[in-house]
Amino acid sequence: MVPLMVLTLVSILITPSSSTSLVSDFHALVSLRNGFQFPKPMLSTWNVSNPSSVCSWIGVQCFRRRVVSLDLTDMDLDGSVSPEISKLDRLTYLSLAGNNFTGGIEIVNLSELRFLNISNNGFGGNVEWNYSCMGNLEVLDVYYNNFSGFLPAGVVELKKLRYLALGGNYFVGEIPPSYGRILGLEYLQLGGNNLEGKIPGELGNLTNLRELYLGYSNAFEGGIPPEFGNLVNLVILDLASCELDGQIPPELGNLKSLDTLYLFRNLLSGPIPKQLGNLTSLVNLDLSENALTGEIPPDVVNLKKLRLLSLFKNTLHGSIPDYVSEFPDLETLSLWHNNFTGVIPENLGQNGKLQMLDLSSNKLTGTIPRNLCSSNQLKILILMKNFLFGSIPEDLGRCYSLVRVRLGDNYLNGSIPEGFIYLPKLDFVELRNNYLTGALG
Ligand SMILES: *[C@@H]1O[C@H](CO)[C@@H](O)[C@H](O)[C@H]1NC(C)=O
Ligand SMILES: *[C@@H]1O[C@H](CO)[C@@H](O)[C@H](O)[C@H]1NC(C)=O
Ligand SMILES: *[C@@H]1O[C@H](CO)[C@@H](O)[C@H](O)[C@H]1NC(C)=O
Ligand SMILES: *[C@@H]1O[C@H](CO)[C@@H](O)[C@H](O)[C@H]1NC(C)=O
Ligand SMILES: *[C@@H]1O[C@H](CO)[C@@H](O)[C@H](O)[C@H]1NC(C)=O
Ligand SMILES: *[C@@H]1O[C@H](CO)[C@@H](O)[C@H](O)[C@H]1NC(C)=O
Ligand SMILES: *[C@@H]1O[C@H](CO)[C@@H](O)[C@H](O)[C@H]1NC(C)=O
Ligand SMILES: *[C@@H]1O[C@H](CO)[C@@H](O)[C@H](O)[C@H]1NC(C)=O
Ligand SMILES: *[C@@H]1O[C@H](CO)[C@@H](O)[C@H](O)[C@H]1NC(C)=O
Ligand SMILES: *[C@@H]1O[C@H](CO)[C@@H](O)[C@H](O)[C@H]1NC(C)=O
Repeated sequence: MVPLMVLTLVSILITPSSSTSLVSDFHALVSLRNGFQFPKPMLSTWNVSNPSSVCSWIGVQCFRRRVVSLDLTDMDLDGSVSPEISKLDRLTYLSLAGNNFTGGIEIVNLSELRFLNISNNGFGGNVEWNYSCMGNLEVLDVYYNNFSGFLPAGVVELKKLRYLALGGNYFVGEIPPSYGRILGLEYLQLGGNNLEGKIPGELGNLTNLRELYLGYSNAFEGGIPPEFGNLVNLVILDLASCELDGQIPPELGNLKSLDTLYLFRNLLSGPIPKQLGNLTSLVNLDLSENALTGEIPPDVVNLKKLRLLSLFKNTLHGSIPDYVSEFPDLETLSLWHNNFTGVIPENLGQNGKLQMLDLSSNKLTGTIPRNLCSSNQLKILILMKNFLFGSIPEDLGRCYSLVRVRLGDNYLNGSIPEGFIYLPKLDFVELRNNYLTGALG
């Protein structure tokens, strides 16, 4: 008994720094708390008159009597974040995400920090921190704040960085080509800023990338770098709505793991490269709202996993390939406002997954096929402004999933299926400028 007490006493005496440091962690946390405005109950365990209770405060985790993790995600906190936060020098995990913090924030000296998430707040100013002293950082997430100025060049120092999210802010200027040297990156999100200039081809060196987001409210010059064809591990490539022009590089056909390709709402022209038919993992393909020309290449037949095929508002022509009716998972087929001719594939809808079909404003002829609603999943059916004739198939009158139907401006005749009146979810029907008879009730 006695020796043990002595030992404990000695160990306290010879390691004063560990207890001092927990006290300094305590003081740093008290400063933080003083900067917060919060509904009191949230941090009620943060008893500032009891320094030794620090390790049991909500959001705090200790290891060897030091604070190593601070997780205040989604706690409804307001106010500012004291610079004293950088005194928590043993932190490996820090999340302040999903609160309403405002003002600037600076994180320095946290050499053991591996995970930093301050996303979804109202932080402003810049993030030009001294990254060279945070060499262990693997995750830096500042998504959706009010940061401005140029993208921080210093993040290139972060040799272990896997995840970098700077999107959803007000960053301006160009993407630094040096970002192509953060070779460990698996996730890069720069979308939703005010970036401009050319997308640097150097990003094509980031061959570990699995997700790349550069779209939305950025206004780049030039086109998609062909070097992106080197990003063979990409699963998601989202370059939507950022003023890209030129052609879709055929090199994108190398991205064998791609599941989602979003290039919609740009100024892309030229044909859909046949090499996209090599993307056999593709589930979502959205090239809508561009200036693409030519036909849907026959190679698209290989994209058997497609759930979304969206090509609307281009200047494509030719026929709608029959093989789309054999895509077993196809849920959305949106080809409106092009110049497609020929007939609607007869077996479309037989896969039983179709939820949304919009082929309006084309030059389609022939009749509306039966079985579009073969498994009662079809919610939206829009075929208006074509040259369709014949009658509305009877089975649409039993399509209980239908919410919205527009078949106007065609040459349809015969009577409106009686069942239409009883479709429980039907919210909007437009059949004008046809030769139909019968009422909708
Ligand atoms: C805070 O800690 C002090 C000192 O240990 C204690 O007297 C007090 O009851 C605690 N307050 C709460 C609300 O737990
Ligand atoms: C953040 O503040 C806005 C108003 O400034 C408020 O509408 C919103 O609910 C707040 N969110 C949180 C998570 O506190
Ligand atoms: C950061 O926190 C947000 C919650 O606000 C969460 O959605 C996001 O996934 C987190 N980021 C990382 C990299 O875990
Ligand atoms: C960071 O470390 C340097 C050198 O130890 C020190 O001078 C500086 O005050 C520290 N900054 C903060 C915010 O703790
Ligand atoms: C963020 O910036 C926008 C636009 O500059 C401004 O309207 C908004 O009030 C700012 N929010 C905060 C929390 O500072
Ligand atoms: C950044 O941190 C490193 C390592 O702690 C230090 O050597 C350097 O002086 C710091 N740079 C600035 C500009 O403070
Ligand atoms: C990175 O990409 C650029 C341009 O695409 C190339 O010239 C350079 O050699 C690449 N650097 C490395 C280290 O691979
Ligand atoms: C990619 O697609 C093209 C054209 O469709 C084809 O000729 C080529 O063999 C494909 N390459 C690979 C590696 O599959
Ligand atoms: C369809 O073709 C006509 C000429 O035949 C052209 O004027 C029109 O712009 C084209 N529309 C679309 C959406 O491609
Ligand atoms: C509908 O029009 C077709 C020709 O387009 C005609 O053969 C058919 O008899 C018409 N049906 C009815 C019910 O008017």
